[in-house]
Amino acid sequence: MSVQIFHSNGPVCTEQIAAQLAASFVPGTLVAMRGGLGAGKTAFVRGACRVLAPGERVTSPSYAIINRYDGPVPVYHMDAYRIGSEDLIGIGWEDLLAENAIYFVEWSENLEGALPSHGLTVTFEVTGENDRRITVERREEGVC
Ligand SMILES: Nc1ncnc2c1ncn2[C@@H]1O[C@H](COP(=O)(O)OP(=O)(O)O)[C@@H](O)[C@H]1O
Ligand SMILES: [Mg+2]
Repeated sequence: MSVQIFHSNGPVCTEQIAAQLAASFVPGTLVAMRGGLGAGKTAFVRGACRVLAPGERVTSPSYAIINRYDGPVPVYHMDAYRIGSEDLIGIGWEDLLAENAIYFVEWSENLEGALPSHGLTVTFEVTGENDRRITVERREEGVC
C-alpha cells in the first residue's frame, strides 16, 4: 500500500490535488472518501471531474445518493451519509460496478466491507479554517 499526504490551503488547492491524481485514473478506479461534513470531499470530486468529465456540474449527491457525470468514462459519485451496506442492493450498486466506470464514494466508512478491496482511500482532516490534510492510500489488488 502506498501513501501520499497533501496539505491543502483552500478549496481551489483541493481541486487541483484531485485533478492531478485523476489524470492517472483508469476505468474501474474506486475512490473511497472519509472525513466529516465540510472536510472537502465534494470539492475533491469537483476537481477530479474537471479532468474526468469536463463541463459537468458536480454537486453533493446527499439526497439523490448517486450522481452520474458523463465523460469518456462515466463517473459515479455516491454519498453514503444516509445509507449503509444493506442499502446497496436497492440502489443497483453491483450493476454500476460492472460498468467499469470511475467511482467516488463519500462517507465510505458507512459501507465498510462492501466496497471493492482495490482502489484509493482518501482521508480528509480539517487542520484549520481553510486547511486540510489529505491522505491518499492506494489499496492494491492481488498483492501477495
Ligand atoms: N482546503 C479546503 N479544501 C476543501 N474545502 C475547503 C477548504 N478550506 C475550506 N473549505 C470549505 O469547506 C467546505 C467543503 O465542502 P464540501 O467539499 O462540500 O465538503 P464535504 O463533501 O466533505 O462535506 C466548503 O465550504 C469549502 O469552501
Ligand atoms: Mg460532500
